Amino acid sequence: MYRIFASAVAVAAVMGVSALAQPAASVWDGIYTEPQAGHGGEEYGKHCAACHGASLTGTGEAPALQGAQFISDFNGETVGDLFDRIRTTMPQDNPSSLTRDQYAGILAFLLKANGFPAGAKELDRRSEYLKAIRFEATAPAGAAAPARALPADLAALDAANRASGLLSPVADDPRNAPGSQPNPYAADPGFLKFPAGRSMGSSSSVAVDSKGHIWIAERCGANDCAGSKLDPILEFDARGNFIKAFGAGKLLFPHGFFVDAKDHIWVTDGHVGGGIGNDVLEFDASGKLLRTLGTPGVAGGDAKTFSEPNAVLVAPDGTIFVSDGHDAGPGHNARVVVFDPQGRFLRQWGTHGVGAGQLDVPHCLAMDSRGNLYVGDRWNNRVQKFDQTGKVLAIFTQFGRPSGIMIDQNAILYVTDSESRNAAGKYGHHPGWKRGIRIGSIKDGIVTAFIPDTDPNPDAGATSGGEGIWVDGKGVVYSAQVQQKAIVRYVRK
Ligand code: HEC
Repeated sequence: MYRIFASAVAVAAVMGVSALAQPAASVWDGIYTEPQAGHGGEEYGKHCAACHGASLTGTGEAPALQGAQFISDFNGETVGDLFDRIRTTMPQDNPSSLTRDQYAGILAFLLKANGFPAGAKELDRRSEYLKAIRFEATAPAGAAAPARALPADLAALDAANRASGLLSPVADDPRNAPGSQPNPYAADPGFLKFPAGRSMGSSSSVAVDSKGHIWIAERCGANDCAGSKLDPILEFDARGNFIKAFGAGKLLFPHGFFVDAKDHIWVTDGHVGGGIGNDVLEFDASGKLLRTLGTPGVAGGDAKTFSEPNAVLVAPDGTIFVSDGHDAGPGHNARVVVFDPQGRFLRQWGTHGVGAGQLDVPHCLAMDSRGNLYVGDRWNNRVQKFDQTGKVLAIFTQFGRPSGIMIDQNAILYVTDSESRNAAGKYGHHPGWKRGIRIGSIKDGIVTAFIPDTDPNPDAGATSGGEGIWVDGKGVVYSAQVQQKAIVRYVRK
C-alpha cells in the first residue's frame, strides 16, 4: 500500500499538480463550487445578460449559453478553450475587460446552468490547468448521477439566492430533500358541517379565533362570488358545527384571511368588478364591516389602491401588512404595504425580480415572535424573511413553492405548496418538488414533516391541495383547498 501511494505522489509531483487531489479529468468531476457559480451568476447579470438574456436563452446574434446547442458546440474541446474564448472575445463590446476571477465565476455559473455538477474546489483561473479538463457532453458511464440541470430561469434564481449570502445554510441539507420527510398527520376532510343547501366552493381562507372557532371564506360554491347572493364568510364552532355566515355582495374572490388578536376577521379580495374588489376588509366577529383598505373596485399600486391583494396580517401591536400582486412578471405589483393600526399608510417595499428582497407574487404572510415578517414569494419558489422596515434577512427554499404560510408559537413554520410541478414549460415548473404541506422549525431550517397532496395527477393542473393554512394553539392544522374545494383538518396520528 505504502509503495503504491508513494508512487502516486511521485507521478502527481512530476505532473505539477497537488499530490492529494486527483486532477479533474472532465466537466463531470465537480470542477467549480456552488458559491462560485452564485457570484458568477451576478457577474453574468452585469456583463453578459444584456446580449445573451437574463435566462441564458440568447437574443439577436448572441447565442443561447444554456442547452443542447451550447453543450454540443463545445463538446470535445477543453474547459480551457471555452475559458479563453470567453476571456478574449467577451463581452463582445469590451473583450478582456474583466478579471480572470470574474471570468472563472461566470464560467462556473454557465457550467451549473448546463447541469454539470459542482464540487469542493473552485474553478481554476489558469488556462493551462483548465486545458487539462475535457468538456464532454455526456457523463461518463458509471459516474455518480450529476445534479439535475436546472432550467435557465430557475438557474438564474438559484444563482441569485446563493449570491445574496442569505440563503438558509441548510437549504441543501439531505434532510430537506423534497418529499423525504414522514407524514405524522391523519386527515379529516369532512370536519366542517355545512348548512343545508350550501356546498363548499374553492377556498384559500381558513383561520381559528381565540375561542377555537373556525372561520373560513369560500368562493360561493364556485371559484368567484360574482352574481351570487351567498355569504362567503362562515363561522363554525370548535367541533365543526355551523354558526353563521356573512359578507354577501361585499366580496368577489376571498383570498388572504386572518383573525387578529381582537378576533376580527380580515380578508383580501383578489378580483375586481362592479364597484367591489381589490381591497382588504376588516369585520368584527358579528359580521359588521369595520374598515376597508384600498379602493373597492379600483386597481392600482399606491397608498390607496391594490391590484389583486394576496394576503393580510395584523401584528400584535395592530400594524397591518398587506402583500399585493397575484400575477407574475414585470408590470404587476410585487410589494408589501404597511399601515399603522389606524389604517394610515406607513411604507411599502418590494420590486419585481429574483434578487434577494425582490418579489414575484408575494402570495402569503406570516410573523415570528420577534415581529419578523415572512413572505411566501411564490413565483420565486422561496420564503423570504424581512424585518418590519423591509430589510431582507434570510431566504428559505427548502419549504417549496409557497401558497400559504403560518408560524406557530413554537417557531414552527407551516408552508402549503399547491403548485410545484415537473412538467417543463408549465406554470409552477419546479422540478423534483411535490405538492403538500412542509413543516419545520425556523430556528434550524430543517423540514421535519411533509403532508402530501392527495391529487392523483397533480401535474395535470395549475393548483391542487392546500393553499391557505392555519394552525391552532394545539398543533391542529387546517388547510383550505382551491381545486378540491375543501377545508381539511389534520391532527397528529
Ligand atoms: C454586446 C453583446 C454581448 C455581450 C455583452 C456578451 N456577448 Fe457573448 N456573444 C455575443 C455575440 C453576438 C456572439 C456570437 C458571435 C461571436 O461568437 O462572437 C457571442 C458569442 C458568445 C459565445 C460563444 C457561444 C458559442 O456557442 O459559440 C460565448 C460562450 C459567449 N458569447 C459568452 C459570453 C459571456 C460569458 C459574456 C459575459 C462576460 C458575453 N458573452 C457577453 C454578444 C455578446
